Amino acid sequence: MDIGAVMNTMRDPAGIPAQPVIFQVLMVLTWVLHIAFVHLALGSAGLAIYAFHRRAAGGDWARLSMAMTKVAKVCVSLLIVLGVAPLLFTQVIYDPQWYTSNVLSGRWAIAFIFTLIVGYCCWFAFYHANREQTKRQVGCYAWVALLLFCLDGLIMHALSYQALLPAKWMSWYAPGGVVDTRGAALHAIQWPRYVFIMGLSVPAVGVYLIAYAHYFAPRTDREAGYLAFARNLGKRIARWGFALSMLPMLAWQLDLPAGTGLVAQPVGWLILAGLALMAIWSGLLSDRTNGYMPAAGGLLLLSLLALWREIVRIRYLRPFGYDIRSYHVNPDWPSTVLFFLTLAGIGGLVGGFYLTLLYQAGRNERCYDADRYVARLATGAVSVLGVWIAAFFAYGFVISVRDSFN
Ligand code: HEM
Repeated sequence: MDIGAVMNTMRDPAGIPAQPVIFQVLMVLTWVLHIAFVHLALGSAGLAIYAFHRRAAGGDWARLSMAMTKVAKVCVSLLIVLGVAPLLFTQVIYDPQWYTSNVLSGRWAIAFIFTLIVGYCCWFAFYHANREQTKRQVGCYAWVALLLFCLDGLIMHALSYQALLPAKWMSWYAPGGVVDTRGAALHAIQWPRYVFIMGLSVPAVGVYLIAYAHYFAPRTDREAGYLAFARNLGKRIARWGFALSMLPMLAWQLDLPAGTGLVAQPVGWLILAGLALMAIWSGLLSDRTNGYMPAAGGLLLLSLLALWREIVRIRYLRPFGYDIRSYHVNPDWPSTVLFFLTLAGIGGLVGGFYLTLLYQAGRNERCYDADRYVARLATGAVSVLGVWIAAFFAYGFVISVRDSFN
């Protein structure tokens, strides 16, 4: 059986509504946001637990633990919401691979949702119980949550990785010629890739702490001593985190299959160089350096990683004759225009308004008064939202009426 022909046949016969490269770029960009919040959630959860167990040592550990518990709580919800966009784009251009991989591990794909729900509930239990005088046992909730989140990352990884190995699908579907429809196994795990991507959570919480100290500097209710503690801890975690991440990244590089030419590809090595640079820079940061800069450097590195994952996917699938550029395009301009206008209007203006508002309000410990600029943004956001809802329903109504007469 020619598995390449099978993959191309499994594509959506209706085609896709715009050029495949548009979906590819959006997939890579939106994945950066997803994984950034995965890293921050896991990193802050880990630090919250560590700080919780160090409370007895005194100092600012109890306070840091409570703060990081809140950060993880918010980040889990954001990583879920922001995971939807790359999921949809993957399903548009890599539908044969993604669905096959999900069906081959069907039980795990479904277990992913339940374990995420249980893990998140456990985190909330920890969040409510994590106070200065709480008993040590409360930490169990947090451990269970963190382990379940790591399991979810493993499931995500296996689903992504199995999708790259079409030559093995038949042996997983019908081992020894006997069909096994249980979907009970995670068939392929590339440990260096998993450990590297998940391990970036450590430097992520480091650069976050540096930004955290910078952000709260104008507030008088966050004492300078506590912020200095957070910043110095962040510098140490970032330095060691970036440096240690080089090991699994190197192992991933050396684990890449020879025939794909990936080892000679510069982007993978550029990531390694980026990790080294970030490790050195984090150690040299002076107190005058803008605290947001290391986080910006981290995001740049994540963009390289997102690009690298896509290069890896293209190279793994190329020998099977799978190329997204040959996907049948069935242009649908109105929906494409609606999509981009939504992205700019709702994502840009409404999202921009919320972010500006939250940023400014959070830096102010007293009653917050929006300035004229934010007030104008608010008016713009509400107007755009109104126009968007009207256009959405009008468009749907016109299409339904037109279809019912055809
Ligand atoms: C705690 C929960 C989660 C963790 C720890 C996690 C972690 C990860 C990791 C590590 C990867 C990269 C895998 C690899 O390249 O080897 C990944 C990819 C991905 N995740 Fe998540 N994730 C979580 C939840 C979600 C959710 C809820 C969604 C969707 C709503 C989602 C959507 C995606 C998508 C679409 C990809 C890329 C798949 C691909 O390109 O093949 N993730 N995630």
